[in-house]
Amino acid sequence: MGFKEQIDKSRLPEHIAIIMDGNGRWAKNQGKFRSFGHESGVLSVKDIVEGCADIGVKYLTIYAFSTENWNRPIEEVNALMELLIATINNETDTLNKNNVRLNAIGDIASLPQKCIDDLKSAMEETSKNTSCTLTLALSYSARWEIVEAAKKLARQALDQKINIDEITEKVFSSQLTTVDMPDPELMIRTSGEHRISNYLLWQMAYTEFYFTETLWPDFRKEDLFEAIVDYQKRERRFGKISEQLN
Ligand code: IPE
Ligand code: IPE
Ligand code: MG
Repeated sequence: MGFKEQIDKSRLPEHIAIIMDGNGRWAKNQGKFRSFGHESGVLSVKDIVEGCADIGVKYLTIYAFSTENWNRPIEEVNALMELLIATINNETDTLNKNNVRLNAIGDIASLPQKCIDDLKSAMEETSKNTSCTLTLALSYSARWEIVEAAKKLARQALDQKINIDEITEKVFSSQLTTVDMPDPELMIRTSGEHRISNYLLWQMAYTEFYFTETLWPDFRKEDLFEAIVDYQKRERRFGKISEQLN
């Protein structure tokens, strides 16, 4: 039996977050340029989006470019931005065909203007789709996001639009970029690295982590389904003891 058949559809994670990692190493292993790894990684994104839409995962959030990635060699940054623009433009039709809505989080204003424009139109063109929301984290880092949220609340307090004692976890969450999404139940990181790299720190307080040695360009639907099967074997206690869960 394949992993897909082993998935309990009644207990699907509603939101899966992914750190796609290992593109550079994958290319280097074959004596190719890193950019070839990024290009190949797009095929994995396509396959995983299709997999999520197929089984009914409502939110998929993919770490595509971190705040810290701006510190990579300029040629690689440029290649990534060009790939992003090409991918957005090439894939909008497929997103519509699969009923997937495109969304983006991060410091979008810091991206090249063409990227911002194309991203905006792709988001508009897919805005009515309802099967799955694909969020790209672009120029994103969780610390940046948390500081931005703190600044927004501080401004509201200064303007006397909010009382400081009214600031709860829920109010704080509402200032984050993920405002309309549930927290991810499952986070997958490829390439054997066991760290979060400044991703969704607030939202992943109780997320189940799944790490695989597979490099991102080799990651396919079946690997996603395997991760979900693994996730479904876990007991999520949220601080309670086993006996308290029904
Ligand atoms: C992930 O692959 C893609 C991005 C961070 C944009 P990497 O480029 O980090 O590949 P490795 O980790 O160097 O192999
Ligand atoms: C994390 O991958 C960021 C993205 C996948 C976009 P990195 O490859 O940049 O992370 P580190 O530097 O190894 O932690
Ligand atoms: Mg990496």
